[in-house]
Order: sequence, then C-alpha cells, then structure tokens
Amino acid sequence: MERPGIKHLMLFTGSANPELAAEVAKLLDIELGGVERGTFADGEIYIRFTESVRGADCFVIQSHGTPINEHIMEQLIMIDALKRASAKRITAVVPYYGYARADKKGRPREPITAKMMGDLFMAVGADRIASVDLHTGQIQGFIDAPFDSLTALPIFEEYLSTRLDGPITFVSPDSGGVKRATRFAGRLDAEVAFVYKRRRTDVRNQVVASQVVGAVDGRHCIIVDDIIDTAGTSIASANLLLERGALSVRVLATHGVLSGPAIERLREAPIEEIVITNTLPISSDAMALPNLTVLSVAPLVAGTIEAIFNDKSVSEIFRGENT
Ligand code: R5P
Repeated sequence: MERPGIKHLMLFTGSANPELAAEVAKLLDIELGGVERGTFADGEIYIRFTESVRGADCFVIQSHGTPINEHIMEQLIMIDALKRASAKRITAVVPYYGYARADKKGRPREPITAKMMGDLFMAVGADRIASVDLHTGQIQGFIDAPFDSLTALPIFEEYLSTRLDGPITFVSPDSGGVKRATRFAGRLDAEVAFVYKRRRTDVRNQVVASQVVGAVDGRHCIIVDDIIDTAGTSIASANLLLERGALSVRVLATHGVLSGPAIERLREAPIEEIVITNTLPISSDAMALPNLTVLSVAPLVAGTIEAIFNDKSVSEIFRGENT
C-alpha cells in the first residue's frame, strides 16, 4: 500500500494575539484552523479543534502577553489536543516567549523559568519551537529539539535605513545586549555603546543606570532592547545618555510588553521615538502615544513557517543573523 506524500500545513492561533496570526495566515494564503474554546466556571480552559488534524504539520501561534499564565496554559492545552488528535508534527510559534528573563539563577534558590518553559512545551508534545528575539540565545539549548530563533532586526533595519541622519550610536541598555546593538551598528554603519545597569534585588522592575561605555556625546543614540516592560530600563538609560551629551534618544524594542506604569512613563520621557513590533497586541492607550511606531513581524513569522513546512533554511531569511 502506498501513502501519498502530500504534506498539509495547518495554522492555529491562541487568544493572545489573533490579529498577528490573521496577518500571518493571510501572507501564507491559508485560513486559520477552527478552534472551539471556552472556560469552565472555575477558570479551567477548554479547547477542541473543529476539524481533523490527523497527519498535518501543525503550527500553534501564541504570544505570552497578559494574562501571561493563561496564555501559556492555553497554548500547552492546544498542543496537547493536537498531539492526541494525531497531528504529524507540532511547532509552537511563540512570538513573545514568556518567563525567558529567568534564564539562570541570579540568587540562590531561584528558578530557571526559561528552561521550565521548554520542558513544558516538550512534555505536552511540541516537536519544535519558533520564537522572535529571545531574551538570550542560549534558551535555544534548553530543549532537546529544534528551536528556530527569529529576529526582528531586518524589519527594524529597513525602517531605519531611510530615517537616520548624522552620527549614530546604537546603545545596549545592559551588557547582555551588546551583541544585539553591535549587529544593528554593523548593518547601519554606526558606533556601539552600552549602559551599565543594576537592578534592585529587593524590588522588581527597579533599574539604576549609572555608567555609559562608548561614544554618545554629540551623537544620536538609539537604545536597542528585546523588551520594554515597565519602561524603567529605557527611561533610565535615555536620561543618562542625554546627561552624557547625546543629541537625541530613540528606543527600539521587539516586544512591547508595556505593563504597569510603562505608558504613563513613556508619555513623559525624553525619547524622540519608540519603535516596537506587534509580537504582542498593543493597547489603544499605547497606540495613542504620539511617538510610538509599531512594525509588523508577520512577514518574518510567515516566511519562517513556510520554510519549516517546506524543509527550507530559516537562517537564510535572516542572512544568518538569527542565532
Ligand atoms: C532585561 O534584561 C531586558 O532586556 C529588558 O531591558 C527589561 O526586561 C526591560 O524591563 P523594564 O522595561 O521593566 O525596565
């Protein structure tokens, strides 16, 4: 008996960022797969796929935005259901990967949640993961399966290429992000600097930016980061750069988490432009910021899904800079 070798791609979305998933589906020229979802009285999530997934190459898009724990759980439940319904391969597409910042112990008796997340995906039956601008590259090694690491760098680069004028320095707001800033500087012919930042260990999200290493005096500075969460890091860095003679400050960050006081703080901040992507949905309050620009990662996500499905190179999409 012969089995026809026809592959079948199916794309499903969780409820965190259906707009991005719809954009991706449109670019792939497919419909999103049908999902029946509900919540039990006690808050438990119910999921059922409304069509057969047997033998299909399934992709489940979910960004881990607020409420983060529910969105993670929803994605895990979706993967579990696909596995039990005989999907041939399941890829967790996680544009914003939650719990990634705890990628090592900073203090005794802390968890490493970035590793725990990988374990959860593998435990429910994901065959691979794809994510955009991981907090740190080593998270790819936290699962014993393929992990496609995408980067929004080409999208930012295209946006900036016609908008830069004068001497430019790309600034990492911490030493861990210097590689990211160096890549931008290399692509856009600019200098690199970084801010020496300390976090208070007794208070979450409290940042002290104290030193700048690199040339910022008399230059336009562009802070590049993976996440703007409460905006404490971006604003502390922007203030320090201006104190050290920067002509202007822009902020680029892939994931606009924008929680707590972020929007209020950014409204008052001495930042010329804030450029983020749509890996997470952007609230109407945030969209009202006059200096906010949102770029879409949908073409990169769609291109990656297409490459995975067709067994083509993903790194070619990013000219090898997605490691
Ligand atoms: C930290 O290591 C990250 O790269 C970001 O700088 C940080 O998560 C941003 O957080 P917040 O906006 O709350 O300062």
